[in-house]
Amino acid sequence: MRVVSVFMVNGLNCFENNNCDVYVCLMSKINFYAGPAILPQEVLQQAQEAVKDFAGTGLSILEISHRSKEFVKIMDEARALVRELMQLNDEREVLFLHGGGLSQFHMVPMNLLNENETASYFDTGTWAHGAIEEAKLFGKVHIACSSKEKNYNYIPKDISIAPDSKYVHVTSNNTIYGTQLNPSDYSPISTYHSLVADMSSDIFSRELDYNQFDLIYAAGQKNVGAAGVTIVVVNKNILGKVDRKIPRMLDYRLHIEKESMLNTPSVFAVYVSYLTLQWIKKEGIKAIEERNNRKAKKLYDAIDASSLFNGNVAKEDRSVMNVCFTMKDQSLEKKFAEYTLAKGIVGIDGHRSVGGFRASIYNALPESAVDVLVDAIKKFESKAYATIFFFINCISYSFL
Ligand SMILES: Cc1ncc(COP(=O)(O)O)c(C=O)c1O
Repeated sequence: MRVVSVFMVNGLNCFENNNCDVYVCLMSKINFYAGPAILPQEVLQQAQEAVKDFAGTGLSILEISHRSKEFVKIMDEARALVRELMQLNDEREVLFLHGGGLSQFHMVPMNLLNENETASYFDTGTWAHGAIEEAKLFGKVHIACSSKEKNYNYIPKDISIAPDSKYVHVTSNNTIYGTQLNPSDYSPISTYHSLVADMSSDIFSRELDYNQFDLIYAAGQKNVGAAGVTIVVVNKNILGKVDRKIPRMLDYRLHIEKESMLNTPSVFAVYVSYLTLQWIKKEGIKAIEERNNRKAKKLYDAIDASSLFNGNVAKEDRSVMNVCFTMKDQSLEKKFAEYTLAKGIVGIDGHRSVGGFRASIYNALPESAVDVLVDAIKKFESKAYATIFFFINCISYSFL
């Protein structure tokens, strides 16, 4: 297939293929999926190249040994990039693991919590709740706070941490509900307790003191690449203190010893993460954070200004990554979904436990994509009112 020209769809780069009259669009859609989610265009292009020829080896990244010097270099550099971007101290180790965020729900307590010990958990959403249920298999769980009674639409402010907690577990961003902890929420906890964070949906989205966490984990498929990789950053001093025997694949210490190569890693997914981390470094976390804030503000402002849409969550807890909203008249939601789809906007259906809409506006989503959604919100509203006025006029004329 010969790619002959570049054009734009909804302001985004696409390629036109003249051979078979089809459009091959790298990004013909505006992708608001919650994960796997949008990747930077240059990452997609580099990954495509590597599928054809990885690092000039004449082999595809999909068929090269993870023990080859070319891939070992990628793994080393990817871990070094996380270290550099997070400005980690020497006590922290960086791991690239399998198993997604969900596997960390059991790996964390298995490695950190004895049966007779207590860990405190923030219950701020479905994922947090999942982590709680898995921790109960290994030790005692104290619920430090919960917003379950309001379908997790806020971050609780009254926190009670068990004084003898082995660690405190938080979900920094609640992907399904669109709430996010504030950076200032962490130090009051980390000053007194070992802090563990599920950062699956907001890692590298803002500047943060990453050394205040004893353990961070994040599934890759939102801000750091493709599904299949889970980044773990752990303070090695907290390991090796539980009595139980741990299966090899679930033991952080072994993964550290084997430099994330205890078994065959997800080679391609690690490579995509490596490319994404390079992109983050090039952009700079500060600049990414500023852009994320601008994107979120534009979208929340449009929702707040509209008489058709409602923001779902407490304003002070709004997520900068996942913007959740509903329509005041639910019967219009199907129409809005069709209207946005026709504009190439995909992935904005709300999670089934919340309904409505969710626009995930991760690091790689360009600001122009948010502009398209904001424009759709505004135009849909004026169309809706134009229709109402049309019917009012019709009714008035029928009385003349
Ligand atoms: C905050 C959070 N934690 C955990 C998970 C689960 O990740 P995975 O599907 O990779 O196991 C998700 C998935 O979306 C998530 O958003």
